[in-house]
Amino acid sequence: MVQIRPITDADIPDVIALWHESGISRPWNNPEHDIAFARRGPHSTILVAERAGRLLATTMVGEDGHRGWLYYVAVDPDLQGQGFGRQLIQAAEAWLAARGVWKVQLLVRSGNKAAESFYDRLGYHDTNARCLQKVLRVIA
Ligand SMILES: CC(C)(COP(=O)(O)OP(=O)(O)OC[C@H]1O[C@@H](n2cnc3c(N)ncnc32)[C@H](O)[C@@H]1OP(=O)(O)O)[C@@H](O)C(=O)NCCC(=O)NCCS
Repeated sequence: MVQIRPITDADIPDVIALWHESGISRPWNNPEHDIAFARRGPHSTILVAERAGRLLATTMVGEDGHRGWLYYVAVDPDLQGQGFGRQLIQAAEAWLAARGVWKVQLLVRSGNKAAESFYDRLGYHDTNARCLQKVLRVIA
């Protein structure tokens, strides 16, 4: 039985390990900071999927006052292809819908064809918009 729930302090080491193992960590992102920042208020959190005490999957979910966003979508590499990713995204969509959010979007790094196929199966489509970014403050 899979339980999907918000992250707790005790989950943090396992969440960070899963992000490393699944290949979504990036050297320029500080996972401890990202987790704390997502948990600082009511507009975002990290959902985790757990079964029998084992962390299976994560997603960061939040809303910016207009759109819902997903980040850090990851399933344990040993457990991919068993529907856990789908369950987690559905839970994140429900989290957003419960807050009145009507559209959700996410970024996929160029070349991540597997993720593109996954999101395609879940009904996501390319917005044909470029994402522009500017760093306002460097996080140590
Ligand atoms: C991408 C990822 C989250 C998918 O999770 P998952 O649990 O393996 O996916 P699911 O088993 O829930 O699959 C859901 C659907 O997507 C499809 N799918 C999943 N991975 C796929 C792949 N690599 N290629 C094609 N289709 C795929 C499944 O066939 C399934 O379709 P169906 O139910 O309509 O038959 C997971 O593989 C992962 O963690 N990858 C590494 C990290 C990553 O790239 N994250 C995304 C960052 S944007």
